[in-house]
Amino acid sequence: MRTERAGGPALSRRELFQVMGVAGVALLGATQGLGGSSQTLAAEPLPIVLPPLPYAYNALEPFIDTLTMQIHHTRHHISYVNNLVAALQGHSDLQSRSLAELLANLGDMPAALRDILRNNGGGHINHSIFWATLAPPTAGGGGAPTGSLAQAITAQLGSVANVKELVNEAGAQRFGSGWGWLVVDNAGQLLVYGTPNQDTPYMQGHTPLLGIDVWEHAYYLRYQNRRADYLEAFWNVLNWHAVEQRYEAAMTIA
Ligand SMILES: [Fe+2]
Repeated sequence: MRTERAGGPALSRRELFQVMGVAGVALLGATQGLGGSSQTLAAEPLPIVLPPLPYAYNALEPFIDTLTMQIHHTRHHISYVNNLVAALQGHSDLQSRSLAELLANLGDMPAALRDILRNNGGGHINHSIFWATLAPPTAGGGGAPTGSLAQAITAQLGSVANVKELVNEAGAQRFGSGWGWLVVDNAGQLLVYGTPNQDTPYMQGHTPLLGIDVWEHAYYLRYQNRRADYLEAFWNVLNWHAVEQRYEAAMTIA
């Protein structure tokens, strides 16, 4: 599938996937009419909408609690979407470019927009990936990767257990708010690191494969100050199949 856009080449479904993740692309049609309290710009190629979750708010219990999921999705994520929509009003040149591309080129953005794009564009893209790579244990959450991603992890990072340890370490060591990531760079190298606030690996030209949100809004109601417990619990609801799809798409593009 290729989508039409004015002023530039069309985006492929795979490029959209890079930005939004599998669930985001699959739900684009549904989200165009979402309405409610979420503002929307054009659904494609810059689908700045609140993506519906591909599971119920209580589906990730007991690892991530229902109220946290509701507030996280309908209060926090939506605020990034609405702020981003408002910021891009009147910037049709930017609306026609992918969010990942804007974030990878923040230095070229209008000075007045840089912090807004960084915080709210990063917030939107990070959370869209987060939701799309989670699943209840009864529907694919937990377990271990397979296929080419499993091979790459073994070859480059030793083992899945080591990946978990490194990502948890990145999340635990992040002072204040941020994310822990497993990413792939343009050379196909897997990397693990943390980012502050809503900074996204796209800012470095990397494709995020999985991310753990370590803002307190992601875990405090159930885990309070026990971030390490939340990090451990996260892996029970990580959808490795979705992560594999992100990896395979990134490697196809590279
Ligand atoms: Fe968050």
